[in-house]
Amino acid sequence: HLSVKERIDEKRKMALCGGGQQRIDAQHKKGKLTARERLDLLLDPESFVESDMFVEHRCSDFGMEQDRNKFPGDSVVTGRGRINGRLVYVFSQDFTVFGGSLSGAHAQKICKIMDQAMMVGAPVIGLNDSGGARIQEGVDSLAGYADIFLRNVMASGVVPQISLIMGPCAGGAVYSPALTDFTFMVKDTSYLFITGPDVVKSVTNEDVTQEELGGAKTHTTVSGVAHHAFEDDVEALLNVREFFNFLPLSNQDAAPIRECHDSSDRIVHSLDTIVPFETTKAYDMLDIVKAVADEGDFFEIMPNYAKNIVVGFARMNGRTVGIVGNQPKVASGCLDINSSVKGARFVRFCDAFNIPIITFVDVPGFLPGTAQEYGGIIRHGAKLLYAFAEATVPKITIITRKAYGGAYDVMSSKHLRGDVNYAWPTAEVAVMGAKGAVQIIFRGKENQAEAEAEYVEKFANPFPAALRGFVDDIIEPSTTRKRICRDLEVLASKKQINPWKKHANIPL
Ligand code: COA
Repeated sequence: HLSVKERIDEKRKMALCGGGQQRIDAQHKKGKLTARERLDLLLDPESFVESDMFVEHRCSDFGMEQDRNKFPGDSVVTGRGRINGRLVYVFSQDFTVFGGSLSGAHAQKICKIMDQAMMVGAPVIGLNDSGGARIQEGVDSLAGYADIFLRNVMASGVVPQISLIMGPCAGGAVYSPALTDFTFMVKDTSYLFITGPDVVKSVTNEDVTQEELGGAKTHTTVSGVAHHAFEDDVEALLNVREFFNFLPLSNQDAAPIRECHDSSDRIVHSLDTIVPFETTKAYDMLDIVKAVADEGDFFEIMPNYAKNIVVGFARMNGRTVGIVGNQPKVASGCLDINSSVKGARFVRFCDAFNIPIITFVDVPGFLPGTAQEYGGIIRHGAKLLYAFAEATVPKITIITRKAYGGAYDVMSSKHLRGDVNYAWPTAEVAVMGAKGAVQIIFRGKENQAEAEAEYVEKFANPFPAALRGFVDDIIEPSTTRKRICRDLEVLASKKQINPWKKHANIPL
């Protein structure tokens, strides 16, 4: 018989071994780290404080009550730790124990740390690697998922929630990541789907591999379910650490400020010539974003999805900002369904977590066509409009070139409470481009070229907007960084409150 002390030590030792060496080896063979190795990389050294190491599943069917089927801590490692000294709550599903499947006990462990994170105001990062509901437990495990979903929803907009998919995540399990703010994936080893290839085959007769159906490429380029894909576990975890540094701990916390070695009044000469003389010629909005941001550092969100809009995090004079920019390089930077949804969700995250929004505008309008209209561009485009309009964080807008039609209104215009709206000398704020406009208002008339020139003279410049105060100033592009940094300092004390409501009704 072991003493209590010996039993405690024994259980702790067992918990550290997860499902045993054989399964750990199998995990490594797949190119995956174990749940604990992942936490070691994610968190500052020695900072992890584990909870519920002694929790075991309570299932007594199918022989599960036998000692050999009990693993201290069950199939998830939970607790809190620090990333660059800042508090974070974490759970890491352990695939070596029943394939990381979710038992009632597993769910309770996750719920416990989510509740604590909410109480103290700290983000939650979940490392997902699970075969789904613990099949032996039935409804207990379904209840467990719902308990987590509810907490995901309650935590939404209160503390940042990040999911990193590092293995399977299928069936109902997908909805927890889907409810969190950001979902990152690891290439080749992770997948997300509602039903796997076998079910797909039997229901729709489609032949599809796991990778095609729900791998990292699919979700970061086609479905827009995931926000980033990384090469392997190590790269993914180190990137999540970087990413975490941009985020406030909660909605009560200001965006973090990092010591900045990049002069806030740095003049960026390259910007004076970056917009091509011909208005139809493309340039890369990322060049502008990187030239303006502190040290050229930009953490792009969804870099391979709806590339006609660019969103991500940067810092200006050390302060986190959210960047939104039309991308003239892709589809002329026009807005469509996917880019509107991508932009809207990003803007709402920034607004929920006190992150100022900088918007770079070069937009020829919304993408025409039946595909867009049948797909509901009206209600999807409305999301981006809605998100910018309701946002009360500091909003600074720079029109670099085109700001045409309804898309001008949408892109954080003065009319949607933009705090500071600038135009570069190359800006053109108009209902549409000259060619289209002339074809409509001078239909059938001779001298189309002359009419076009007149239209350009009137509208293809920043004056009409500036005359009316719709832009606050026409600025030299090279001074953009300096101005944004100065404005952000002033706007740091901005207070704006929307009318009371139970919750808003954003078009979905
Ligand atoms: N419940 C209980 N145990 C599970 C499980 C689940 N949902 N999913 C996996 N496991 C167990 C397996 O029985 C196996 O146990 P063992 O090590 O004692 O043999 C272990 O986890 C590893 O699973 P395995 O199937 O060998 O791994 P794999 O990498 O080949 O496949 C999955 C992984 C997730 C594709 C596969 O396990 C699977 O299809 N699981 C069921 C998924 C599902 O339908 N879940 C319920 C709906 S949400």
